[in-house]
Amino acid sequence: METTAPLIASSQDATAVANQETMLTPRFYTTDYAKMNKMDMSSVRAEWDKLMLEFEGDNNHDHFQRTPEFSSEIRDLPPALRQEFLDFLVSSVTSEFSGCVLYKEMEKQFTNPDLKLAMGYMARDEARHAGFINMSLRDFGVAVDLGFLKRAKKYTFFRPKFILYATYLSEKIGYARYISIFRQLERHPEHRFHPIFKWFERWCNDEFRHGEVLALMMRSDPKLLSGVNKLWIRFFLIAVYGTMYVRDHNRQELHTALGLDSTKYDFEVFDITSQIARQVFPIELDVEQPKFRAGLERLRLIGVASDAAQKQGGVIGKLKGAGLAIAAATTFARLYVLPTKRNQIPPQVLMVPTW
Ligand SMILES: [Fe+2]
Ligand SMILES: [Fe+2]
Repeated sequence: METTAPLIASSQDATAVANQETMLTPRFYTTDYAKMNKMDMSSVRAEWDKLMLEFEGDNNHDHFQRTPEFSSEIRDLPPALRQEFLDFLVSSVTSEFSGCVLYKEMEKQFTNPDLKLAMGYMARDEARHAGFINMSLRDFGVAVDLGFLKRAKKYTFFRPKFILYATYLSEKIGYARYISIFRQLERHPEHRFHPIFKWFERWCNDEFRHGEVLALMMRSDPKLLSGVNKLWIRFFLIAVYGTMYVRDHNRQELHTALGLDSTKYDFEVFDITSQIARQVFPIELDVEQPKFRAGLERLRLIGVASDAAQKQGGVIGKLKGAGLAIAAATTFARLYVLPTKRNQIPPQVLMVPTW
């Protein structure tokens, strides 16, 4: 598991980083569109229609406009912070664009009018988000070539239900991440070293709404949230939380600049995400148990050691790398068997973002 980000000094570097395939970098997805197209929203009709009206209202249509602040922004950040901030923006633009490409393709492939409509709205939002981040990257001279990325990046196939679990979590975690940073900078404006953070509040409401679409899709088919699928949900929860923990702990400079502690920030995000995910998931990870925290920390240390092994190279480096991959798998398995909390799924699905 490689954890150190390469230097980003040009658009080419930024595009190469976005195009990377590692455990920690955002992926592009494809799925069985025909199968997903058969999903039927009738059992959640009232809530679905209400949500679609909200999308139609498009209350963020004027939000992603640049203001003069951006031209006078602080671009001479200390080198280490600059790198981590650029890495954060490149990773964010990749994941926003990943959503855009997937939702757009779904819109194109689906004939189911409910799903086609929803995917069109979500692709619209994600295109705005990706474009907005890329403008800030352009200020630093390191915009990602999104057209190239769309053609060149590897697409990972996930069955429809896995797409639902993974994208649902990534939308809700995206909401929780953006709102936590926004609230922190509301309390401590002196830590706001770039104007983009001011956009996070209204932005994260888009992500929240995207999560609501996926929540309703899952709730439309109770099989997706019961039986053996509970094991898959647990798997995705641990994979997503674990990845976030390891990746965020490579951003100490960024977090310090924002006045955040990486571990505290991550656990706040887990907490918000778990509260939201009660709308769909019949289980919840017990993130407060010491063994869970210790497991994540172990994954992080394995990541650091893997980096060192990779840098060392040669046969010894390779052997160490292989050993560490086994250690990572074992740690993951131990996290997987920890007790989880049961959750009674509520009759009403839609929630209001109040964090
Ligand atoms: Fe987004
Ligand atoms: Fe989104």
